[in-house]
Amino acid sequence: MADKRWPVLVARRLPAPVMDWLNERCEVTLHEGPEAIPRDRLLRDIAGKVGAITLLTDKVDDEFLDAAGEQLVIVANYAVGFDNIDVPACSARNVLASNTPDVLTETTADLAWSLIMSAARRIAEGDRFLRSRTPWIWGPEMMLGQDVHHKTLGIVGFGRIGHAMARRARGFGMKVIYFDVYRPPPELEEELNVEYRELDDLLMDADFITLHTNLSPETRHLINEERLKRMKPTAVLVNTSRGPVIDEAALAGALDKGDIFAAGLDVFENEPEVHPGLLEAEHAVIIPHLGSATVDTRHAMGMLAAENLVAALEGRMPPTLVNPDVWERRRNRPV
Ligand code: DGY
Repeated sequence: MADKRWPVLVARRLPAPVMDWLNERCEVTLHEGPEAIPRDRLLRDIAGKVGAITLLTDKVDDEFLDAAGEQLVIVANYAVGFDNIDVPACSARNVLASNTPDVLTETTADLAWSLIMSAARRIAEGDRFLRSRTPWIWGPEMMLGQDVHHKTLGIVGFGRIGHAMARRARGFGMKVIYFDVYRPPPELEEELNVEYRELDDLLMDADFITLHTNLSPETRHLINEERLKRMKPTAVLVNTSRGPVIDEAALAGALDKGDIFAAGLDVFENEPEVHPGLLEAEHAVIIPHLGSATVDTRHAMGMLAAENLVAALEGRMPPTLVNPDVWERRRNRPV
């Protein structure tokens, strides 16, 4: 067991085995409590640290890096998405940055699939209805939804989670179309039985549209009023990526007017705020950013973030860097 020699910041309590593993190796400054670490405290606590485990709620920018100081080696994000991190700013200062890919792929796809099913078959609405104690009797036209099986699934953003969605769709006998700016090799398209479409064509052809892009200036409001209008009136839109990929006001309007059938949303434009129009929409299934929220996956994410952190401090290449070029530049520098 190593000496407690590395002062590090952990921005929120992680699963117990991860905290134990970190505490054995590092001198941990931990932000306790369920809330995100307040900005002033984050800037104060990062000062003098050699590493940090950050969350998607913590902005890592020039101000953070200034507050940390030149000894900072790595920012290990506890998320696959890293839009909270200014990666070029980290790279400019030779600070490593890492994320937690792979370990949450299947779990996030499971959740996206459950949103497809819930929104299509009005599960949350039915649950609310019974709890309202409204008298009811089975009826031929009561709470009719949309079939999922044998329909067309449109996947926007065809990375790991997009692939996992395509594999699930096969079991439902669905046709799968996808859009991504990067085209995978034809063998992969064949293996996953998917067809490429331009985005606007996909939006017109798909019965279910599921978003799996990262958040960047190019994908902010990718789904806007005009694109919502291209979708079928029976379409279901699901988002487990990042909230700002959808223009929420436009989506609330589309649901209100019945321009699309339903939405299943795990993420929101101004998290933790939810647009009031979505809170009112009966056909919106809304859940609080639970994509990777299972016991096993949160443990795996924590261990991967911790491994990235400690590897960098021990002079080993962290397994999932988002700026591997920095590793080459700093590999021979002692911590
Ligand atoms: C991520 O990892 O980016 C998710 O949003 C949280 O698991």
